Amino acid sequence: MSVTNFANTLIAPLSRYSEADYQSITRNLLLSEKINSETKSIYVYCPEILKNRLDHIKYVFPEGTLHAVAIKSNSHLEVLREIVRNNCGLEAASFEEVLLAKQAGCPNEKIVFDSPVKTVQEIEECNVQFPGTIINANCFQELDRLKGKNNIKVGIRINPLLDLDNPGMYDVSGNHSKFGIPITQKEKIIRYVLEMDNCIGLHIHAGSEIGDQKNHIIAIASIVEIAEEIKSMGKKLDFIDIGGGISSRMTAGEQIGLEDFFSQLILQAPQLEQYHIITEYGRFVQAHSAFVLSKVEYILEHCNPHIALIHVGADLFPREIYSSHPPHHDIFVLDQNGELKSGEQRRYDIGGPLCFSGDFVDKNVLLPEINPNDFICIADTGANTLSMWSRHCGREEVEVVMYR
Ligand SMILES: Cc1ncc(COP(=O)(O)O)c(C=O)c1O
Repeated sequence: MSVTNFANTLIAPLSRYSEADYQSITRNLLLSEKINSETKSIYVYCPEILKNRLDHIKYVFPEGTLHAVAIKSNSHLEVLREIVRNNCGLEAASFEEVLLAKQAGCPNEKIVFDSPVKTVQEIEECNVQFPGTIINANCFQELDRLKGKNNIKVGIRINPLLDLDNPGMYDVSGNHSKFGIPITQKEKIIRYVLEMDNCIGLHIHAGSEIGDQKNHIIAIASIVEIAEEIKSMGKKLDFIDIGGGISSRMTAGEQIGLEDFFSQLILQAPQLEQYHIITEYGRFVQAHSAFVLSKVEYILEHCNPHIALIHVGADLFPREIYSSHPPHHDIFVLDQNGELKSGEQRRYDIGGPLCFSGDFVDKNVLLPEINPNDFICIADTGANTLSMWSRHCGREEVEVVMYR
C-alpha cells in the first residue's frame, strides 16, 4: 500500500492514506467480500498507520520511554493487541480498561491506571493480581489508600493550573478541574512523596486538543521542577508521566510530528531525560489509523442541500455530533464498485440513521453526485469513535475490519 510520506519536513516521517488508498482498500474489501450486499457500514482499522505513529513517537522520545497509549481513544481488543505487539503500553481510564489491557496481553509494568475514582477494591486487586502496575493517584485521599500497597508503582497527578488554549470540555488544568492535585499544594505533595516508599513518580495530563504548545511545555517543566526539588531532598523519583493531549495536527495538509515539541521540551526542562519518561498519547496515535465506509441508503431531495442518509451517525460519532467542538473528517464518495467519484460537485447534508433530528455527520459538504448504494468514506476515525459507541436507538455495532 502506498502511503503519503512527508519525509522532507520530518525526521521520523508520518504517513496518512490518500484518496487513492481509500479507493484501492475499498476495492480490495469488495473483492474479498469483506464488503458484501449485506454490509451497511464497515470500520476499517489500519495497523500500518498505527505502527507508523508508534514508530514516530518511539523515534522522537529517548529509548526506554514507555508509550502507554490511551485505551479510551480506541479500545478495540485487536487494536490494543497491536499496540502491545509494538512493545508499547496501555493507559487505562478505568479498572475495566486495566482488565482489557491484560486481555490484550499487556505486561503489568506497561499498564498505567489513571481513573479519578479508583475504589479500595480496585487498588487492592491491582496490588495483588497485577504487581508492577503503575497507578497515578488523583487526590490525597487516594494516596492514603495507596499507602503500603508496595506492589504498585505510584505516581501523583498534578494539575499545573495553566491555560493551554484547548476547548473547555477538554480543559483539565483550571482551578475547578476534577483531575490532579493543584500545583499550589506542592509542599503537601512533596511530604507524601517522601513518606511513601512506593510513590516513585509524578504525572501530568494537561488536557486534550492542546492549542498552546508553549504553555504545555511550561506545564510539564513545572512538574520536572518539583521532581528536582524532591531529588535535592534525597529521593530520586523513577518516572515522570507527561500524559497525552496532542491532537493529530496538520498544516496545509501535512502532518506535524512531535520533533519540535520534544526538542522544545528538553530545552525548557533538560532534567526530564534523567527520569524514565511515560507518555499517554491517544488522539495523536489513533486519529489517522481508521476510516469508515457507510452505504448510502436514501437520498432525500425535498430540501436543499439534499440529504444522503447513511448507516452511522451519533452512535459512532458522539463527539462529532453532541459536542461543542466536533473534530473534522474529510469525506469522499465511492460508487458501489469502490470507484472514487469525481465530477461536478454539489452540497449535501450527510444524515445518520438515528431517530433524532440532530443526527448529521456533516452538513453542507461539497461532494460529487451521490446515489443510493454508493459508499460515503469518512476519514480519520481512529480516535474517540468506536470506543464511544452509543446504544441510543439500539442499532448493531459497526463491523470492524483490521486491514493488513
Ligand atoms: C489521563 C489521560 N491520559 C491520556 C489521555 C489521552 O489524551 P489525548 O487523546 O488527548 O492524547 C487522556 C484523555 O482524556 C487522559 O485523560
